[in-house]
Amino acid sequence: MADTYERILRLRAIRDFTDEPLAAEHLDAILEAARWTGSSKNLQDWAFVVVRDPAQKRRLSSCGDFTTPLRAAPATIALVQEPGGYEFDTGRVAQNLMLAADAIGVASCPITLHREDDAARVLELPEGHRCRYAIALGYPAAASGPARFGGRKPIDELVHDERY
Ligand SMILES: Cc1cc2nc3c(=O)[nH]c(=O)nc-3n(C[C@H](O)[C@H](O)[C@H](O)COP(=O)(O)O)c2cc1C
Repeated sequence: MADTYERILRLRAIRDFTDEPLAAEHLDAILEAARWTGSSKNLQDWAFVVVRDPAQKRRLSSCGDFTTPLRAAPATIALVQEPGGYEFDTGRVAQNLMLAADAIGVASCPITLHREDDAARVLELPEGHRCRYAIALGYPAAASGPARFGGRKPIDELVHDERY
């Protein structure tokens, strides 16, 4: 319990990875955590595209503006939202996946694919499916640090009592 709480608090986006491929059992465990995420009406309107091929990583990375971690990572999971799916659910999947990865020693970084239409083409998504986010995954490089932006707003700026 305490461990889970600590891990939630210290989860950071990691952008530097070793060259080591992501172990199949780690990838499977991360995908299993994603699969078990709760969704609105339990619709599970999502799909996951695992991207490991360097050429495909390059193509996908060209769909966003800050995608260096995607190119650096041995594997990336593109989060596909099926027609009728909710962004909130996609966000829950992303966070579950990142926390599960962290729990087994895998670092991660969310990636925005700003040019969604390009991403849909690269991933050969069926009509109406979209992909705006992906999670880069790998083993953290020794010198990898988070904190490109760092810090958080103080609690009293965020929390309101009864009304805003
Ligand atoms: C929805 C979302 C999209 C993000 N997109 C990118 C991205 O495209 N490239 C990147 O390097 N980091 C991206 N990040 C990581 C954020 O920059 C990072 O989470 C934030 O600066 C806070 O840092 P921390 O997670 O290490 O505490 C994204 C994070 C979120 C939640």
